[in-house]
Amino acid sequence: MKRIVVTGGAGFIGSNFVKYILGLYPDYSVHVLDKLTYAGNMANLESCRGERNFSFQKGDICNKRDVDEACRNADWIVNFAAETHVDRSISSPQAFVETDVLGTYILLEAVKEFKIERYVQISTDEVYGSIDRGSFTEESPLNPSSPYAASKAGADLLALSSWTTYRLPVLITRSSNNYGPYQHPEKFIPLFITNALEDRQLPLYGDGLNVRDWLYVRDNCTAIDLILHKGKEGEIYNVGANEEKKNLDVVHLILAYLGKQESLIRHVTDRKGHDRRYSLNSSKLRKLGWKPEANFEKSLKQTVAWYTENVEWWKKIKGGEFQEYYRRHYDL
Ligand code: NAD
Ligand code: TYD
Repeated sequence: MKRIVVTGGAGFIGSNFVKYILGLYPDYSVHVLDKLTYAGNMANLESCRGERNFSFQKGDICNKRDVDEACRNADWIVNFAAETHVDRSISSPQAFVETDVLGTYILLEAVKEFKIERYVQISTDEVYGSIDRGSFTEESPLNPSSPYAASKAGADLLALSSWTTYRLPVLITRSSNNYGPYQHPEKFIPLFITNALEDRQLPLYGDGLNVRDWLYVRDNCTAIDLILHKGKEGEIYNVGANEEKKNLDVVHLILAYLGKQESLIRHVTDRKGHDRRYSLNSSKLRKLGWKPEANFEKSLKQTVAWYTENVEWWKKIKGGEFQEYYRRHYDL
C-alpha cells in the first residue's frame, strides 16, 4: 500500500500514468495535484472519477500551501507538473521558470519536511540539447537550447543537489518525445493528425528533417513504474525507444493512415533554436529490466485511430484558447 501524489496528473503523460498505476496496483492510492492550466484537462481523468483510491486537488506546485496539503500524508511523489511546449516557452518563458524551476523547489522542500520516501522528477532528453551523431548517456553534459529545456535542466540540478546535500530520495527520468492518446493538440503528432482530419494545412518547421526518438506513452509509464519501485536514489535514467524518425517521415505515415493528400504539408519558418536531433542511450534502464513494447508504425496507427474516434475530446481543446494561440503563432 503506497500513497502516491502525482503532480500534473491531468496532463498527457500524467493522466496516462495515473490510470496505469490504478489499474496495476489496486491497493495503492493516487492523489493528483494539478493547476489545470490550458494543458490540464479533467476529461483525461474521467475514468478515475469515483474510484475509491483516487482523489483530485486543484492546486499549484508553486504554492507551498497547496503542496503541503497534497503531500502531508504521501509516501511517494511523481512530478509531471510543468509548462511543456517549446514554442510557448520561446514566446512567453516566465511561466516555465516559475512552474518548472520554482515549483520543483517547493516540492523538494515538501519531500524534506514530510520525509517523503521517494521523489521522481520527470525530466526530458531536451536538457542535453541536440546531437548530430551517437546518443546521450546520463553522464552527458547539459546543453539546453530553449527556455523550456533550460527550466527543466534547472529543476534537474535542484533535485540532484538535494540528493547530494540533504540525501533527499530523488530519482530523475529523462525521456524522449512521447506520443499516444490524450496528448494536447499543440504538440506535433496530435496537431498534424487533427489538422489533417480537418483538412487544414500541416505547418512543418524548416526542412522537416529534424529527428525525434518516439516513445509510446504506455512504454514511458512502464519505465516510470520501474524507476519508482526499483531505481536507485540520486540516479538519472534515460528513457528512449530507439525509434528515431525524421518529422517528414512521421507526417507521411499520418497522411497515409488517414488517406489524405501530401499537399496538406506546408513548410513554414523554422522554430528558433530548433534542436536537430535527439537520441538517448537507455542501456542503464534496460539493465534495470525495462524494454519498450510498442512498434512505432503500429502504435502511431493506433494513435491516429484514437484521435479519429475521439473528435469531441480534441475539438473542445482546439475550440478554446488554442485558436488564439494558433493564429498568433502560425500565421496560417
Ligand atoms: P502536459 O502539458 O500535457 O501536462 C502538464 C500538466 O501539468 C497539466 O495538467 C497542467 O495543468 C499541469 N501544471 C502545469 N503547471 C502546473 C503547476 N504550476 N502546478 C500544478 N500543475 C501544473 O505535459 P506532458 O506532455 O504530460 O508532460 C509531463 C511531464 O513530462 C513534463 O514534466 C514534461 O517536461 C515531461 N516530458 C514530456 C515529454 C513529452 O513528449 N510530452 C517528453 C519528455 C518529458
Ligand atoms: P514538439 O511536439 O513540439 O516536441 P519537441 O519540440 O519538444 O521535440 O515537436 C516535435 C517536432 O516537430 C520538433 O522537431 C518540432 C516539429 N514541429 C513542427 O514541425 N511543426 C509544429 O507545428 C510543431 C508543434 C512541431
